[in-house]
Formats: sequence, structure tokens, C-alpha cells
Amino acid sequence: MNFAFYNPTHLIFGAGTLSQLGALVSEQGTKALVVTGGGSVKRSDTFDRAAASLKSAGIAFAECDGVEPNPRISTVRRGVQIARDQGCDVIIALGGGSTMDAAKVMAAAFYYDGDPWDMILHGQPKPYIPTRALPIVTVPTLAATGSEMNMGAVISNEETREKSFVLAACLYPRVALADPELTMSVPKDQTAYGVCDLITHVTEAYFNGVDGTPIQDRFAEGVILTAMEWGPKAIADGKDLEARSQVQWASIVALNGWVNAGTNGGYPVHMIEHTLSAYHDITHAAGLSVINPSWMRFAAKHRPRKFVQFAQRIFGLAGKGADDLDCALQGIDRFECFLREIGCPTRLSELHIDDTLLTRYAQDTLRIIHDENGHLPGRPAMTEADIVAVLKAAL
Ligand code: NZQ
Ligand code: ZN
Repeated sequence: MNFAFYNPTHLIFGAGTLSQLGALVSEQGTKALVVTGGGSVKRSDTFDRAAASLKSAGIAFAECDGVEPNPRISTVRRGVQIARDQGCDVIIALGGGSTMDAAKVMAAAFYYDGDPWDMILHGQPKPYIPTRALPIVTVPTLAATGSEMNMGAVISNEETREKSFVLAACLYPRVALADPELTMSVPKDQTAYGVCDLITHVTEAYFNGVDGTPIQDRFAEGVILTAMEWGPKAIADGKDLEARSQVQWASIVALNGWVNAGTNGGYPVHMIEHTLSAYHDITHAAGLSVINPSWMRFAAKHRPRKFVQFAQRIFGLAGKGADDLDCALQGIDRFECFLREIGCPTRLSELHIDDTLLTRYAQDTLRIIHDENGHLPGRPAMTEADIVAVLKAAL
């Protein structure tokens, strides 16, 4: 293991913490741009309560609403313009991962004269990696991406049909205010997708990482078991605050750098999914739920030992030895069953995706990210044919 760990985000977690928003923002600026999605925060009382807290702390604010799922670069451009026109000095993201990601890129683009799309890695020779951003305060309303406490953002370009990411230290939010009460209005399907997303964040590092990470393995298994225990409860009863709290905390630790520290692996399932979202505008974790089991079956043949460990520790399967491929595959079947039971799709046909463009998806994925051999980073690194095979097996 060889790694650095850094996460400067001040996390405030717990039911009722939304009331602290104004006081926290007043430590960062005086005029906020409040970024929101398609209206869920206004249909609940979340927006009104946030506005009241800002008002009582003397924070003025402008609004950028309408951030779409799979947030678009055109929306980022619109938000930056509002922030500049209105003289904002702090950005508040009040919503799901899409809203938070768009807000983060707006915050960095505020100080950049070029086009914000220059920051998103899409195969350009010299991406612009931002070094400065307006202070960002995230208030997640959906437990899934972990964006509230990490340095990443994922943005789509609707014109070029690309979806990709930026990673930059200036994108770490100054404060993440995670109030599980705000997630109680998330519908069943989005709750399930959130559970799938957070599990996939740790399975990517678990299966693609370097050998010899026993603590990280246990952390990851803890996140998976917690999500599998509490996720179904949150889906069954959205008002179950305890379940909502456990799922939200799991989603934060899954991608704030701690659980995956030192694993240094690729995120092949995510990279392939982003291409599918770029073409079909599907929900991120619906795509993951289809690709991940298929990718696991492909990868298990190359590294059965890790998949046997997964089968044993997550599902209690016995196995005939450390390299028992049958046991590894049974564990994957059980995982796929879990995804189906919570209502996630597991076939591309359920997403109305057929085999017409499989090669195109593979080529686009590799154009955006590849290693020195032109392969998709992961264990094993994937060729174009490998990606097509994984997608074909998921039809
Ligand atoms: O837009 P509104 O009206 O707010 O409705 C949203 C949206 O329709 C709704 N929703 C959110 N909170 C709600 C709610 N509905 C009722 N009550 C609430 N409290 O849920 C729908 C989905 O929202 P979205 O923000 O798109 O979902 P999610 O949080 O899953 O974010 C997905 C995006 O994050 C990216 C994905 O690629 C995708 O673009 N990711 C970002 C990552 C990161 N920054 O670290 C990592 C992830 O792997 C992921 O790639
Ligand atoms: Zn994800």
C-alpha cells in the first residue's frame, strides 16, 4: 500500500441539522447561490426551511434551479452566469448528486474564463484542472453518490453525448450538512438506486484495488453489509429515520476517500456506465446495477480469490478453497438477486438498451479513460472486446 489521504470537508451529520445552515454559510460568505434540482426540495419543505435559516443568519441568496439528473454542462454555464451577475461569494448545493456536482463545477468555473467543459476529462489533450473555487456547502437530499464530501463531479455534455468527471482538491466542499430527514421524501426507486450506487463505490475499489488491504476490505464489507441490512428497510418505509440515517452515513463513507484509501484501483463499472448514461440519459445506479454483476463474472475468472472472499464474508458461502470459482460465481448470483429484490434492473433490456451500439460504447469509454496500453484501468484492465463482452452478457 502506498497512498496519501486528504479530506478537508467539515461534515455535520444528523436529523434536524438543516437548521444550522445559515450559521455555517455565514462562515463562508455573505451572498449565496442556492443550486437546486427539478423541484423536489420545493415540493417538500426543505427549500423553505433552508431559506429561513439563511435569512435568520443574514445571508442573501440568488437561485439556480432546474439542475437535471445527469447534470448538463449547459446548466453549469447558466449557474456560473447567475453567480457572477448576482455577485455570489459562496455556493450552496441543495439536492441530490446531480445538483451537488453541477454546483461544484459552477464554483470552480466562477474563476475560470474558458468553458467549464474544459475541466471535464473527455479525451482532450490538456484538460483544465481547476485550482480555485468559490466555497461550497453541500446539503444532500438523497443518499447515493457521496459527492457531498468528495472532490469529484460528473457532468454530461448533451451536444457531444459525453458524460465524464473532474477531480480537483478545490472541489472538496467546505461543509457537508447531511440531515437524513431530508432524504425521507426520496421515492422507493431512487432509494434503491442510492443503495446500489454506494455499494458499487466500494465494490469497485474492493475488486480492482491492489493486494494486501485487509483493513480496507473489512471497511468495504462493513459498508456493503450495512447497506444490505438497512437499505431494504429504507425502501420499505421511507419515513424510517434510523434506516435513512444508516444508509446516508454508508453512502458518505463509501466515497469520501477513507474506505477506499490505498486500494488505488480503477472504476471500470462506473466508466462504462457513464457512457451508457451519456447515450441514453439513464439513472446512474440503474446502469451500475446492470453492469456490475456482469463485470464481476468477467473479473472473477481473473481474480477468483477476491470474489470467494466476497461470497464468504458477505453471503456466508462456504467454498472449497480460496480459488473456488463456483463459490465466487454463487456470491455474484446472490448479489445480483439482492439488487433485483430491492427493485434495481439487472438487464440492459430493462433500460431499453439493445446491442446496436455496444462497440461504440466501448470505444467512447476508452477514449475518455485508458492506460498506457489503451485499456480501461481495472483488474484486469479491459480491452474494447472485453467491454463489449461484459455488455453483451448483460443484454
Ligand atoms: O431534481 P429533483 O427534483 O431534486 O429530484 C431528484 C431526481 O429526480 C430526486 N430527489 C433528490 N432528492 C430527493 C428527490 N426526490 C424526492 N425527495 C428528495 N429528498 O431524485 C432524482 C435523482 O437525483 P440525482 O441527483 O440525479 O441522483 P443521485 O444523487 O443519484 O446523483 C446522480 C448523479 O451523480 C453522479 C452520477 O453520475 C449522476 O450524474 N455521480 C457523482 C459522483 C460524485 N460526485 O462523487 C459519484 C457517483 O458515482 C456518480 O457518478
Ligand atoms: Zn456511482
